[in-house]
Amino acid sequence: MTPEEVSLVQDTFRKVVPIADTAADLFYDRLFAIAPDVKPVFPSDMTEQKKKLIAMLATAVTNLHQVETILPAVESLGKRHVTYGVAPAHYESVGAALLWTLEQGLGPDFTPPVKAAWTEAYMTLAGAMQGAAATA
Ligand code: HEM
Repeated sequence: MTPEEVSLVQDTFRKVVPIADTAADLFYDRLFAIAPDVKPVFPSDMTEQKKKLIAMLATAVTNLHQVETILPAVESLGKRHVTYGVAPAHYESVGAALLWTLEQGLGPDFTPPVKAAWTEAYMTLAGAMQGAAATA
């Protein structure tokens, strides 16, 4: 990722943080609407899951400029996801739901460069997770 893309992701994430709980609700509603097949892999009580997702995203976004420092944790996360029953195809749905949620949360601030930067950030994380999962 370029330094400009990293800044765009970090700056826009800061705008979403105050509405993180609403954004997490929107994200999972959207995910289960576009990919109903992923619902059974999640627990029925999603409260903890939402908190973990926000915390992990915050850590990842904060450290995007030094992504090598979080890669070991991201790779372990990818390996754990295999045990949760997550398949490679699910990553595409999660990415689509994430971008959609950002668009809802950011409104006019979700410009084409912002979208491109978030797409790159998600692909970096998801790629590392899937790469580690494939070798698990
Ligand atoms: C960049 C992509 C993703 C990130 C950052 C992420 C983050 C997390 C985190 C932090 C946890 C908490 C548990 C742990 O640390 O092991 C978790 C659990 C989980 N994630 Fe993900 N995840 C991603 C992609 C996905 C995808 C593609 C799916 C598939 C639909 C998925 C489904 C799940 C499930 C089912 C759990 C376990 C829920 C439970 O049983 O408590 N995740 N994820």
